[in-house]
Amino acid sequence: MTNNLKIFIGNWKMYGDISSLKILRRINTFLNTKKSKMRPRVIMCIPSILLYPFSKYLKNSKVSFGAQNCHEIDSYGPFTGSISAKMLKKAGAKYVIIGHSENRIEGDDQKKINKKIKSAQRQNLSVIYCIGENLTQQKKKLTFKILKKQINSIFLHKINLNKLIIAYEPTWAIGSGNIPRAEELKKIFSFIKTIIKNKIKSKKIPKILYGGSVNNSNIVSFLAIKDCDGFLIGGASLSSKKFIDIIKKCYK
Ligand code: PGA
Repeated sequence: MTNNLKIFIGNWKMYGDISSLKILRRINTFLNTKKSKMRPRVIMCIPSILLYPFSKYLKNSKVSFGAQNCHEIDSYGPFTGSISAKMLKKAGAKYVIIGHSENRIEGDDQKKINKKIKSAQRQNLSVIYCIGENLTQQKKKLTFKILKKQINSIFLHKINLNKLIIAYEPTWAIGSGNIPRAEELKKIFSFIKTIIKNKIKSKKIPKILYGGSVNNSNIVSFLAIKDCDGFLIGGASLSSKKFIDIIKKCYK
C-alpha cells in the first residue's frame, strides 16, 4: 500500500501500430472503473505517428499522451525526418521523454538534450527527463557522480520546474530483467532529491520516477522507496494486462 506512487508512464519505443489502440482502450476502461481514491496518473509515450489518431479516438480519456523525443528546434525547419515539439503538441502530446539512454547512445549529448528540453517547454510540453548511469559507470562506483552531472546540467539554463519530471533509469536495468537493490535505490533517490532541492531552494520539487525492467512481479520491491513518485515502464506497457497489474499492485 502506498500513498505517493501516482505516475505511471509507458514508453512504447519503436513498437505499436494503429491496432495497439485496444491496449489504451483497456487501460482507460480500467481507470474509469477504478474505485480507489488514489487515482493513478497514466501517461503513454507512444510513437509520434500514433499521437494524432489515438488522442482523437481517446478524447477526454484518463490516459494522457506523450512523445519519446523531439528535435532541438521547437517549431518548423528543413530537418528531414525530424519532429518538433510544436508538431507533437499539435498532434496531441502533453509530455515528451528527453535524454533517454537509447537516444543518448544515438548521439543526443547533454548540450543537445538541454536544447530539446528548452524547445519542449517553450511549446508547453512537460518534459520527462531521463538520467542514469551505464554498467561500466556503475561498476566503477560512478553512479552518484554521473547523476549529479546530469541533474546539474539542466539547471544551467532557465527551466520550468512545473513542467519537469525526472526519471532515474540505470541503463543496465533497461530491458534486461535486472533491477537495482532496494537499499541502493533508496540511497539514489534520496541523493537525487537532495541535489534538486539544493539547486532550486524550493519545497516543491519535480516528481522523480524509477525506470528499468519494471514488471508486475518486481513492482512490490519498489514500493518501499518513499522518494519514488512512480515509474517509467517500457516492455510491460505494451500489454494492457501487465500494465494494469502493475498499477493494481501499487494500490492494494
Ligand atoms: P523497460 O524499459 O521497462 O523495458 O526496461 C524502460 C525504458 O526504457 O524506459
